Amino acid sequence: NRLVSFLKESNIKVRPLYPKKIIIQQVDDFQEKAYELNVTNDTIFIKYGDVSGLKHASTTFLQLVLLNNSAHPSTIRIPAVEVKDWPTFQHRGLLLDCSRHFFKKEVVKKYIDLLALYKMNVLHWHLTEDQAWRIAIDKYPKLESVASKRVELDGTTYEGIYTKEDIREIVEYAGNNRIEVIPEIEMPGHSQAAIAAYPHLSCTGKQVEVANDWGVFKEIYCAGNDSVFTFLEDVLTEVVDLFPSKYIHIGGDEAPKSRWGACTKCQKRIETEGLKDEHELQSYFIQRIQTFLKANGKEIIGWDEILEGGLAKGAVVQSWRGFDGGIAAAKQGNKVIMSPTSHAYLDYDLKAIDLEKIYSFNPIPTELPVDYHSNIIGGECNMWTEHVPDEKTLDSKVFPRMLGMAEALWSGGAKNYEDFRERVQSHYPVMDSFNVKYGEESIPFSYNTFLRNDSMFLTFNASSPLIKIYCRVSERGLGRGTSPFTSPIHVDGTKHIQIQAYKNDEPYGGVKEITLSGHKALYRKVEYKNEYSPWYTAGGDSGLVDGITGSMDFKDGNWQGFWNENPSVVLDFDSIINVEQIELGFYQYINSWIFIPEKVKIKYSKDGRKWKNVKLQSYGLGGNSKKRGQFYIRTNEFFEEKISCRFLKIEIENIGKVPDWHEAAGSDTWIFMDEIIVR
Ligand code: ACM
Ligand code: ZN
Repeated sequence: NRLVSFLKESNIKVRPLYPKKIIIQQVDDFQEKAYELNVTNDTIFIKYGDVSGLKHASTTFLQLVLLNNSAHPSTIRIPAVEVKDWPTFQHRGLLLDCSRHFFKKEVVKKYIDLLALYKMNVLHWHLTEDQAWRIAIDKYPKLESVASKRVELDGTTYEGIYTKEDIREIVEYAGNNRIEVIPEIEMPGHSQAAIAAYPHLSCTGKQVEVANDWGVFKEIYCAGNDSVFTFLEDVLTEVVDLFPSKYIHIGGDEAPKSRWGACTKCQKRIETEGLKDEHELQSYFIQRIQTFLKANGKEIIGWDEILEGGLAKGAVVQSWRGFDGGIAAAKQGNKVIMSPTSHAYLDYDLKAIDLEKIYSFNPIPTELPVDYHSNIIGGECNMWTEHVPDEKTLDSKVFPRMLGMAEALWSGGAKNYEDFRERVQSHYPVMDSFNVKYGEESIPFSYNTFLRNDSMFLTFNASSPLIKIYCRVSERGLGRGTSPFTSPIHVDGTKHIQIQAYKNDEPYGGVKEITLSGHKALYRKVEYKNEYSPWYTAGGDSGLVDGITGSMDFKDGNWQGFWNENPSVVLDFDSIINVEQIELGFYQYINSWIFIPEKVKIKYSKDGRKWKNVKLQSYGLGGNSKKRGQFYIRTNEFFEEKISCRFLKIEIENIGKVPDWHEAAGSDTWIFMDEIIVR
C-alpha cells in the first residue's frame, strides 16, 4: 500500500525500461515468514512461502526504493541485490502509552506505518491507566464521560478517547500492514480512572478522582467483589469484539496490596479460596480473567508481577523488571516477551539507553539454558508517555532508537554497532519523509571534573568527532559570550555552565545546564557504609565530592540514590583541616518514593577512631515529607564552633517506609544526594 501511494503521490509515470520482468512466486515448503529478493539488471524476482514472507519482501523492496531515490524522483532506481531474509523473533513490538497522554488516531496510524516500514509486527496499545481510560465501552458510558478526563494540577482538563469507530479504523489499518494490535486493559492496579468513574470497583467504594500526577496508586480493583469481575468481563467482551489479536494484555504490574490487606471482602476471598496471601489473591484474579478470555478465544499477556503468587499456565509473561521474570517464566514453560528497563524503555533518557544500548539488546539472556530459548518469543520497546505530551516529543524518544530494537529483534545474533550506526544515517531522510522529528542517537557529550594543583577543572568528551561543544560560564544564570570548548576550563567558587552541542553546524540536543561548586572535600576519599544504587551513582565513589551539584531532574546523572538504606559516609581529608560549614543537597519527589531524610548527624574525628558530634546552628530538613512536586533542598549548616579534623562522618536517617497517607503506602523509600560541600 505504501509503495502504491508513494508512486501515486510522486506522480511517476511507470515506464518499465528495466526490468523486463517482475516475477513474484509463491513456493510451497518455503521457510515460514521468509523471502528471497533478487534484483538483476533485467529481473526482479521475489520468492516467498506465506503472506508474511511476501509482506517482508515488499517492505524490503520499499526500503530499497526509499533509500535510493529522492523524494520526487522521475525514475526509480534500486540496486541489484540478492537477499535471503527472515525474522529471528516472531514478536517484535512497540508499546505505545496513549493513556498518560492521548495521541490522535492519525499519529497512531503514522506509527503503524513506521512499525511496518521497520518490520516490526506488534503495536501494544496501552489504553487504560490511573490517569485516563481511553477506550469507549458501550455498557459503561462513564468510562468516557468521567474516566477519559482528568483535571490537571493547574485546573485545566485533559481528555481524549478512542471511539469504537476509531479503534476499528486503526485495527483495520494495522491489519492491512500486517501489524497485530494488542490492547492492554490494566488490572488489578493502574485502574484509578475506572474507579473514579465507578467507585464500587475499589475496596473502599469511596469516590476518588482520575489521577492527575504520575506514580503508583493504591486504589486498585477489589478482588473480593464479584461485581468487579462482572465489570471486567463486560469490558473485555467489548474489547474482544474490537480486536482480532491472538492476545489481550491484562497488565498486572505495580498493584500495591495495602487496600486488599485491609478489605474484608478481599480477606474473605483469600479464606474461601484457600489462598496464602495477597500475592496469591492477585494470581487468583489473573487466572479468573484468563479463564474468561480463554473461553472467548484469547490468550493473555501480563507483566512479570503475574509470576508472584503463582503463574497462570499458558499466560505470556512480559518481563520488564530486568530479565529475571522472563527467565523464571520460560523455565516454567510459559512464553515470554522481553522488554527490560535496562534496554527497552524509550521513556528513559539517552544516558541510560542510547542507540548502541538498545541495539545490543538480546531477548535471550545468556544464563537461560538452551532448552528454553524457544519460549522467548521476542521483545518490545516500551514508550511510556508521562513526560511525552505531544507528537514531536514522542518522535524524538522513539526515533532513531526504535530502529535499534527493530534490527535486534529481526536479526538477533552478532552485532556490529558501527556498521549499524552508519546504515542508520541513510534512514534520516526516510524518517523525514514520514514526518518523524527524530532525536539524537546518544548523549552528544559527557563531562567530568578533576582536580589539578588543588584547583577544579571541567572537561568534555564529545561522543563523535562530528560534534562541537560550545559552553558559557557565569556566576549566575546566563553568561556573556559563547566560545567553542578546546581545553579544560578552570572553575572556582560556584559557577553555572550552559552547554550546547553542534553536529554539522546544527544544534544537536538541547542546552544542558550544570552548576559547579569548589570546596574543601573535592575529590577526597569517601568511604561508604552502604551501597548506592547502580542506577543512580552520580558517577561513582567521588560522586558526592566532584563539585557537580544536581539539577531539578533527579535522573541527570548527578544525584546519588540510596534505596531502603540509612546512608553513612566518611570523608577523609588526608590531613587535619579547619571546617566551618557543610552543605548537603537532598532531593524530593514523593511520587517516585524519593523523600528528604528525617535526620542527619555529623561527626568529626582527628584519628578516625574517636568521634565527636558536630553542634549545628541550623537544622534545615524538617516539614517536607508531604510536599508534592520535584524539588531539592540544600541544608546550609554552620557549625557552632570551628572544628579541626581529618575525618567527617555523615549519618543520614531515611523516613522509613512510604507513609500511610501516600498512594504507595508501605513501599521502601529512596534518599537522593548530590554533593557534600565542605567549607
Ligand atoms: C511497567 O513499566 N510498569 C510495566
Ligand atoms: Zn477488596
